[in-house]
Amino acid sequence: MTPFRIRVPASSANVGPGFDSMGLALNLYLTLDVSASATWKIEQHSSHLPEVTDVDNHYIVTIARDIAGRWNQEFPPCKMTVWSDIPLARGLGSSASAIVAGIELADQACALALTREKKLELATEMEGHPDNVAPALMGGFVISTVTDRAIDWVQLPMPDADVIVYIPEAGLMTEAARKALPDTYQRELAASASARSNVLVASLASGDFHLAGNMMECDLFHEPYRAELIPNYDDIRSEAKKSGAYGTVLSGSGPTMMSFAPTGKGESIVSHFKELLPDYQVALLQIDHDGAVISLQG
Ligand code: HSE
Repeated sequence: MTPFRIRVPASSANVGPGFDSMGLALNLYLTLDVSASATWKIEQHSSHLPEVTDVDNHYIVTIARDIAGRWNQEFPPCKMTVWSDIPLARGLGSSASAIVAGIELADQACALALTREKKLELATEMEGHPDNVAPALMGGFVISTVTDRAIDWVQLPMPDADVIVYIPEAGLMTEAARKALPDTYQRELAASASARSNVLVASLASGDFHLAGNMMECDLFHEPYRAELIPNYDDIRSEAKKSGAYGTVLSGSGPTMMSFAPTGKGESIVSHFKELLPDYQVALLQIDHDGAVISLQG
């Protein structure tokens, strides 16, 4: 096996009313260096990774073995070194990145030659919805849906904007944040919620980020139910707007929040929020356009 590197971006799902459907890849990365080895050796170099170096309980290896098994192959022992910039349980798609990394790992190490569609299908099955895994796999801003037929998706060019994330100290598990949601929605509410999502997509497609920002902030599917679980939810939204942001959303199921702002405005918003929220990690990020990248080493 030629040694190889897998790099998978973080992602932010929902973008307001695009619940379980829209997602954006961000330039924080999970990186794996992999080479052949007679026995398993796993090294992890990040506080953002679970402290599991035991191969039988390692999430990414478990996924790779599962995928290899579906193609009747045994995943070979490897030397694997792992780095991550993606904080866990913060709504930045750490589990989606790990799933995509596991699929790419099996594909590369076992020469499965999986298509992008197949990888998306496998990742969606494992994650339960495509909104994080699609951008983690393909990069950019991806809108997707699961129908009886297939997973349909569109990679929509996003108008230029600065992306600011506000990451609190404490995490929130997606499962708990999903439990806060109602099981059903009344027709009138569902129609209004999906209309807002439609206008959001149309405004982004036509380059109107002012309207997009307003649509992002009037989700009816999940944010109203999750707001009380999110520290400083109202204050971050209103202060970001006052500071010039187009709009602010929950990143995935939270607790991270994310603003879009006119290009060049992000730095001043970050400085302002660093003073306002000293316990948060406030950062200016870029949209990742590459998705999962495999590069052969040496
Ligand atoms: N769409 C998902 C949610 C993202 O909001 O629950 C987190 O997995």
